[in-house]
Amino acid sequence: MKVGILGSGEVGQALGRGFASRGHDVKIASRNPKSEALVMWQKQTKGKASTGTFEETAKHGEILVLASLGRAVEEVLRLAGPPNMAGKLIIDTTNALDDSQGSNLGLFIGPNDSLGERVQRRVPEAKVVKCFNTVPNTQMVDPKFAGGNPEMLICGDDEAAKKKVVGILKEFGWPGAIDVGGIEGARWLEATVPLWVLVGKRLGRWDHAFRVVHG
Ligand SMILES: NC(=O)c1ccc[n+]([C@@H]2O[C@H](COP(=O)([O-])OP(=O)(O)OC[C@H]3O[C@@H](n4cnc5c(N)ncnc54)[C@H](OP(=O)(O)O)[C@@H]3O)[C@@H](O)[C@H]2O)c1
Repeated sequence: MKVGILGSGEVGQALGRGFASRGHDVKIASRNPKSEALVMWQKQTKGKASTGTFEETAKHGEILVLASLGRAVEEVLRLAGPPNMAGKLIIDTTNALDDSQGSNLGLFIGPNDSLGERVQRRVPEAKVVKCFNTVPNTQMVDPKFAGGNPEMLICGDDEAAKKKVVGILKEFGWPGAIDVGGIEGARWLEATVPLWVLVGKRLGRWDHAFRVVHG
């Protein structure tokens, strides 16, 4: 599969490495695709890996991963070009974190909207699936949680697209997913993340995730 990763931070780089290691042809996007960091990423990534602009990367991908700063999502979609994303699966990893109040982390959207919904509205012909936004980049591929790997929380409007994402999750070492429904569920997947940060601060580590348990 040709995979376009729209974002070159820790998430984009980790998922890019993951897809390339599973034999996919990965292009990762940045406003500066020839930056030292990305040249290094390309050198160190095993498999087919290249870098490009947001537009080149959106055109390259048969499936896309949105991995930009939450506040830059609108701009990244504009740079990528919605027609280049129409009809494609977009795995949306983004969070609407607002750190303008210092340590009192908040969200810049909500509670009746989300980045997942905004992406789906901006590219109505795409199949947006919210995924990976609730887990740390270090655990996204080949997760290793003490006590066993949890199921990923996902949501989206297109059933076939969600099925495809569950297949990708299994390729990456996850047991599967709990699908919480339509893309409106992104409101609540995104809302768990400030809590995830508070828990991380309390534990003094950043490799944790929430697990659903039942009797
Ligand atoms: N870090 C994690 O462990 C983690 C876990 C789960 C979810 N998330 C979410 O995943 C997303 C990516 O996180 P991250 O930590 O990998 O990276 P990040 O620092 O949040 O985002 C980096 C990307 O955003 C782009 N960007 C920033 N400002 C921009 C602007 N004004 N215009 C266009 N593009 C801009 C950068 O483009 P350039 O390459 O051009 O600089 C870069 O590709 C975030 O929404 C985050 O909340 C993060």
